[in-house]
Amino acid sequence: MQTKQRVFSGIQPSGASHLGTYLGALKNWVAVQEEYESYFCIVDLHALTVPQDPKVLRANVREMAAIFIAVGLDPERSIIFRQSRVAEHTELGWLLNCIARVGELSRMTQFKDKSQKGGAESASVALYDYPVLQAADILLYNAHLVPVGEDQRQHLELSRTLARRFNSLYGETFVVPEPMILETGARVMALDDPTRKMSKSSPTPGGYVSLLDEPDVTRRKIRRAKTDSGSEVTASPEKPALTNLLGIYAGLTVQSVSGIEDQYQGKGYGDFKKDLAEVVVESLSPIRERTLELLDDPRELDGILEAGAEKAREVARSTLHHTWARMGLD
Ligand code: TYM
Repeated sequence: MQTKQRVFSGIQPSGASHLGTYLGALKNWVAVQEEYESYFCIVDLHALTVPQDPKVLRANVREMAAIFIAVGLDPERSIIFRQSRVAEHTELGWLLNCIARVGELSRMTQFKDKSQKGGAESASVALYDYPVLQAADILLYNAHLVPVGEDQRQHLELSRTLARRFNSLYGETFVVPEPMILETGARVMALDDPTRKMSKSSPTPGGYVSLLDEPDVTRRKIRRAKTDSGSEVTASPEKPALTNLLGIYAGLTVQSVSGIEDQYQGKGYGDFKKDLAEVVVESLSPIRERTLELLDDPRELDGILEAGAEKAREVARSTLHHTWARMGLD
């Protein structure tokens, strides 16, 4: 019997998890795990939509598992697993492909952005189809809530559309999931260019703070972060860089942006950035240290992922069978 509502979320093991993924996603996962039956997935199949070096991918999956635990996800309470180990994700993905529309996928801005460099013609079919697999991830667990950053809003909307469409074609089957996108931290921008999202594929490492950066590297990146003209520490549309830095400060300290602005009245950017660097280092150092410790015991990490996959499979199997029956595949 399912007593608690469910949460599902996923993250790609593409290396260098950063402040954006922490504030937009991981931190909120930790916050919800007590109240919900939670499924947190390392989406290795999603990562394969762009070329990956097998050795690096293998290492990144373990690193991500270590980060999950280091930020505070509890494998006793939350189900932590990797996507490729639960075959039902791709099976449900296919079934949902049969009701998703080419027009819907063609409107996805992430596909347009990601395929821009090489052109859509040479992008992988999987990159195009990516949001349908994401919908399958979520619907497979009948998740009520999906904690993500702002950049996933459109994908979540498609998941909702596909759940509703399936339900109206075949009868009530899937929970229509709600995105959980918080105001603070949902869109952390690059430190060296506040018009771009902080991203692990950033062209310059100065743009993002990795969760595994050494403290001095973090301090340097914050010190060098771009600022706006003027000298007051305030958030406003004219000050995108300061708005971003204030958002990071607020996200890590649970102080409000206006409270922080008050605190820095009459002080300059230099003072603010110095303190922000310490706030970031204090928040991330324990995560970094714990991650490195956990990586010393890869078998333990593999065991956690395997145990998680086993539990996930049970739920996934039952949803898939139900879906088969609805579609006449039983
Ligand atoms: P991914 O791996 O790009 O990012 C993982 C999570 O981190 C959030 N995020 C950010 N939040 C705030 N500011 C940023 N700069 C920032 N960068 C990343 C993302 O919004 C995301 O929540 N498609 C997903 C993975 C996925 C998934 C799912 C998520 C696959 N299946 C099912 C939820 C449910 C992705 O590429 O996230």
